[in-house]
Amino acid sequence: MLDRPAPAARRKLVEVKGLKMYFPITAGILRRKVGDVKAVDDVSFDIYEGETLGLVGESGCGKSTCGRVILRLYDPTAGSIRIDGTDITETDSETLRKLRPAMQMVFQDPQASLNPRMTVAAIIGEPLDEHSRLSKAEKLNRIYELMDAVGLNRNFANRYPHEFSGGQRQRIGIARALALNPKFIVCDEPIAALDVSIQAQVVNLLEDLQDRMNLTYLFISHDLSMVRHIADRVAVMYLGRIVELAPRDALYERPMHPYTQALLSAVPEPDPEIETVRKRIILTGDVPSPANPPKGCNFCTRCPKVMDICRAVKPPFREVEPGRYTACHLYEDTTTAGRTGAPEAFTSTQQGV
Ligand SMILES: Nc1ncnc2c1ncn2[C@@H]1O[C@H](COP(=O)(O)OP(=O)(O)OP(=O)(O)O)[C@@H](O)[C@H]1O
Ligand SMILES: [Mg+2]
Repeated sequence: MLDRPAPAARRKLVEVKGLKMYFPITAGILRRKVGDVKAVDDVSFDIYEGETLGLVGESGCGKSTCGRVILRLYDPTAGSIRIDGTDITETDSETLRKLRPAMQMVFQDPQASLNPRMTVAAIIGEPLDEHSRLSKAEKLNRIYELMDAVGLNRNFANRYPHEFSGGQRQRIGIARALALNPKFIVCDEPIAALDVSIQAQVVNLLEDLQDRMNLTYLFISHDLSMVRHIADRVAVMYLGRIVELAPRDALYERPMHPYTQALLSAVPEPDPEIETVRKRIILTGDVPSPANPPKGCNFCTRCPKVMDICRAVKPPFREVEPGRYTACHLYEDTTTAGRTGAPEAFTSTQQGV
């Protein structure tokens, strides 16, 4: 990962602008619409070819919805999605079907996402049936190739998912996602359901496949240590919005948004000397409902640094330092101050993260 060129020099494979995904809330027998769950509420970011963008945030903040809507598993409420130069925001289902091979998803729970009545060969081969015209022998060859690529024994091709361990089942899910040579894969908590001892193996496999096949990942996780390991850049989500996006090291060493600071302060530090001085930022209050987010900044109800403006005006998501984006009034470019850097008090609170 280290010898990859800087993101700026690379091609944008995924471009997301002003993306919103609202789910209607209905009531009564007539199912009248009474509101919206704003699961994804105006997010914009790019993913460069060959990189891993980590997407982190607490449960329910909209990570999975974001991943699914980018692959057009949902029709977005607003905004645009371009993948490999093609705008897929409003493409019809037939065009979308043709684009499907390029973009795939690996799910959290391999148990639930694999059909228990199909053999491994049938599961991995299913996308080939739909999108390619291989002969029977060619198809079996391709299935074997994919099983080799993910470290599954070919002799198990005729077995059923329940005969495998969790880690092996996730390998089946990965092989299936790879069947049509995708460019972009959304990995939605791909290791969260696995034993800790197996997690690293699956992560190593994903990294290895990425290098070999020049894959681009959106890696969704609430495990900040894992994301630090695998991601080139990291986006932090809170209540449907991205509050900060930065290169991995910059984000972990000097988080800018108060929410990122709080999230990272909860991650244990492997170095015991730093661990003993690590300051935990405890957030008070509940996460507001995505059906009724605050008027100003979505984080204003829990932010330890809240100011008056935060309760009234949504902070724009903007680049505050080269390559670093945040949505926070603390970093507004005030012409009088003339700087956008982190105030002193902020940089010093994060020892050890
Ligand atoms: N199909 C749906 N219909 C209605 N509301 C939905 C639907 N899918 C998700 N939501 C709501 O959207 C919000 C975001 O959910 P989402 O699953 O994207 O969060 P998440 O960040 O992936 O959470 P987790 O870490 O628990 O997987 C939640 O309030 C959820 O209840
Ligand atoms: Mg999820």
